[in-house]
Amino acid sequence: MKDEITNLRAQVVAQIEASSDLAEIENIRANYLGKNGKLTKLVKRINEVPKEEKKEVGLLINETKNTILAILSQQKNDLKETSRIWFDPTIPGKKPQTGSLHLMTQAIEEVANIFTKIGFVRMRYPEVEWDYFAFEALNFDHDHPARDEWETFFVDASAHPKLGKMLLTPHTSNGQVREMLRVKTPPVRMINIAKCYRRQSDASHYPMFHQFEGLVVDEGISIAHLKGTVDYFMTAFYGEDRQARLRPYNFPFTEPSFEIDISCDICSGRGCKVCKEGWLELGGAGMVHPNVLRHGGIDPVKYSGFAFGWGVERVMMMKPGLGINDLRTIYSTDLRYLKQF
Ligand code: FA5
Repeated sequence: MKDEITNLRAQVVAQIEASSDLAEIENIRANYLGKNGKLTKLVKRINEVPKEEKKEVGLLINETKNTILAILSQQKNDLKETSRIWFDPTIPGKKPQTGSLHLMTQAIEEVANIFTKIGFVRMRYPEVEWDYFAFEALNFDHDHPARDEWETFFVDASAHPKLGKMLLTPHTSNGQVREMLRVKTPPVRMINIAKCYRRQSDASHYPMFHQFEGLVVDEGISIAHLKGTVDYFMTAFYGEDRQARLRPYNFPFTEPSFEIDISCDICSGRGCKVCKEGWLELGGAGMVHPNVLRHGGIDPVKYSGFAFGWGVERVMMMKPGLGINDLRTIYSTDLRYLKQF
């Protein structure tokens, strides 16, 4: 009997170890421990064992039963674990989503590269700014409409004793005097690209937008340098066949001031429904006002300069082929739209 039990135990252990699924394990359990199982039958024959061996055989049967139960349970867990991490390498994988830079990030990089190539230093000045740098130092009248709550977002914080109210900068021109104060002695060659904020929203305006501001100050700087730089940018950004035009305008911080127009790519400057007369407005420019140079600690008798400030979104929208006819869509969160760029 003792040998039978030992053999049975070896047999069952081998079978459990070779089993490969849960159904097989259940079969083994039934075969050995079920009502008519092999071990159960041995237990029923205990009366055949001589009296003096009964105790020893009883212990052996119990120990064998416990061992079988323990190995069965261990194998069950192992099989469950394996089936959880099992995978079919032949199933085609899911393609990982690849991200890309946002259209505006691409535009900012492109603009920055064009200007740094010709010696401009890329800067970024505060978006949360003091009235002084955004308006006062730029020669704005106290009652200029831009200083009104209607156009500018003011921050609900106490005013600076010297620099005035805190606001979200409505243009990148706030960097002009800051840059002059940083450089101290010309030449100044800055390209400041940053976010700006205004209370506006329609097809060509958004409350948060980007501008790039060029500022050059040195001895003998004239409108010819401004026009040359504008022409260089137009060709680099839009290609050979687009022209720039300077149209007289008024900004408090430049004298003379201009608006820069670009020839319309739809009608090649002949005039159409979109542009009306062949030209589209890109942004402002002009010769730095002597008062602004003074605020920057620069002598306006010795030095002169030009500046320009254009909207990145607007400049990008005028690239042929992009088909963006509403600026607000640039900030859509719809990936189907954004993936086109
Ligand atoms: C200015 O902001 C001047 N600071 C530009 C300047 C700089 C003039 C240096 C002279 C010398 P303006 O308000 O026109 O000017 O804005 C310039 C450009 O910013 C606009 O032509 C347009 O392209 C863009 N822009 C202005 N407001 C918005 C807006 N709400 N949404 C999108 N783009 C805007």
